Amino acid sequence: MTDPITDPRVRSAPLDATLSEAGVLSLVLDRPDALNALTDGLAAGIEAALESVDDSRVRCVVLSGAGERAFSAGADVSVFEGLDPVEGTSWTVFERLAEFPRPTVASIDGACLGAGLELALACDIRLATDRSMFGQPEIRLGFVPGAGGIQRLQRLVGAGRAKELVYRGHRIDAETADRWGLVNRAVPTDAFDAEVDAVVTDIAEGPPVGLEAAKRVFDRGADASLTAGLLMESQAFGRLLTTEDVAEGVAAFQEDRDPEFKGE
Ligand code: COA
Repeated sequence: MTDPITDPRVRSAPLDATLSEAGVLSLVLDRPDALNALTDGLAAGIEAALESVDDSRVRCVVLSGAGERAFSAGADVSVFEGLDPVEGTSWTVFERLAEFPRPTVASIDGACLGAGLELALACDIRLATDRSMFGQPEIRLGFVPGAGGIQRLQRLVGAGRAKELVYRGHRIDAETADRWGLVNRAVPTDAFDAEVDAVVTDIAEGPPVGLEAAKRVFDRGADASLTAGLLMESQAFGRLLTTEDVAEGVAAFQEDRDPEFKGE
């Protein structure tokens, strides 16, 4: 069973947002005729879904695009008219997504460009079909990426590759994205749904408090010294020892059964 997210900003956006009984928050960008290009309303809708959902019920977020042509072809070119030169884009959806406490997965089938790639970069895990394509084409319009397509991209694939993508504004195919580590893997289209499902199910069945701690230690640690990061890691380990999920995980192992984590 799945429940729709009822926040009015979500309902009025071209976004299909549902939360399953298993705790999977599915966000489907739903403008297939415009290759799921991001508008103000769509960006606000994604943000509102992440804000309004009871995050203690969410075990994993999956972001995808409707149709078979695109995850998202970037910002809708119409939004560039009338942008404030000081604030640039005022969309805060990328940070909201990156900081969502539970794991997030970008499920990419087709074009993943510009702000679309920046959304995917704000997720924890990226899975793609082998027919997908990736790029930061902003420079061709005279812009630069404005929401992670430089900083998150270079942290993921290294400065040389990121600079080539941004400076040339050209597209790379899924095989190259896989080789560069831009996606966790590119999978044949007919095996893709099963692959996404396997990853999401593993996460959704995992211990929510442990996964939240792991995400925090990864993300905070990425900006910290090794010493500070290791300290965060050992403190998270220690804190989890007192949770019921750890007691359940250990008991299930000893009893040779699957654990049932409750997030406590
Ligand atoms: N904003 C608004 N509309 C967009 C869009 C965007 N970023 N990207 C695609 N669309 C629309 C097209 O205008 C077209 O609409 P139409 O059918 O009403 O004419 C529809 O989506 C299909 O796109 P089209 O270009 O015809 O498909 P294609 O298969 O020939 O090319 C792409 C696909 C992704 C290569 C091409 O659409 C593209 O380069 N898009 C822009 C990518 C971009 O620069 N994004 C970053 C903006 S900063």
